[in-house]
Amino acid sequence: MRKSPIPAGNWKMHKSPSETEAFLSRFLESYGEGDAPVLFFPPAVSVPAAVRATRDRKDVGIGVQNIHWEREGAFTGELSAAMARDAGATHCLVGHSERRALFGETVEETVKKAVAALDADLQVILCVGESLDERDAGRAEAVVREQLDPVLGADAVRSAWHRLIIAYEPVWAIGTGRTASPDDAGRMHRAIRARLEEVGAGDDGPPPVLYGGSVKPGNVAELLAVDGVDGVLVGGASLDPHDFAAICTAASEAASTS
Ligand code: PGA
Repeated sequence: MRKSPIPAGNWKMHKSPSETEAFLSRFLESYGEGDAPVLFFPPAVSVPAAVRATRDRKDVGIGVQNIHWEREGAFTGELSAAMARDAGATHCLVGHSERRALFGETVEETVKKAVAALDADLQVILCVGESLDERDAGRAEAVVREQLDPVLGADAVRSAWHRLIIAYEPVWAIGTGRTASPDDAGRMHRAIRARLEEVGAGDDGPPPVLYGGSVKPGNVAELLAVDGVDGVLVGGASLDPHDFAAICTAASEAASTS
């Protein structure tokens, strides 16, 4: 049987602590405990509420959307990986395209963030993906490789290989309602997997590769059926408890039918 695909919800700047509690109580009612992990990335201020609300559910993990690479210091507005861990987070997103495009996050910074998160014992979801111009110029694979390789080259990443997850998120599909076709997604996922196998580290096999970009209840099964898609990173559709429960159910069904 296939390893259960991972559904992950990236809430971006949505849901206060009280909205987080209300969401999770509705979600947990609609989605019973399963074997596969389900991940939520609320705003950092809502992480403690999310951790409390999911305390009794071993299948649910809570993560932060961003960290600073330093442990502490005079960095107004930032938070460290160790602080996130202490607040109960188990995962961290690194290099989301909104961080790269809107906040000028560089590849070098994504390396430092991934290393800091792994050092603090978090699991990292490294987001990579090309823009529409880059895709049209035939550079999709090259761009993803430029984002991936520096992180894979870091010693701290190679020695914590089993705590790394990759999310392929074509920028043109994020929040636009456009989704990569199963063929396009499959090609990119297999290219990423091939690179991960080439770099290789340990006996655990390559890290899982999630797909992200306008995933919804109506297209999730088709995407999860693609060879190389090991889960989904969901923005908009993770804000509705019933839609996200439907996505999680599709992920557990994909595990049992393949
Ligand atoms: P979307 O966002 O599902 O709203 O396209 C995905 C993401 O940014 O992770």
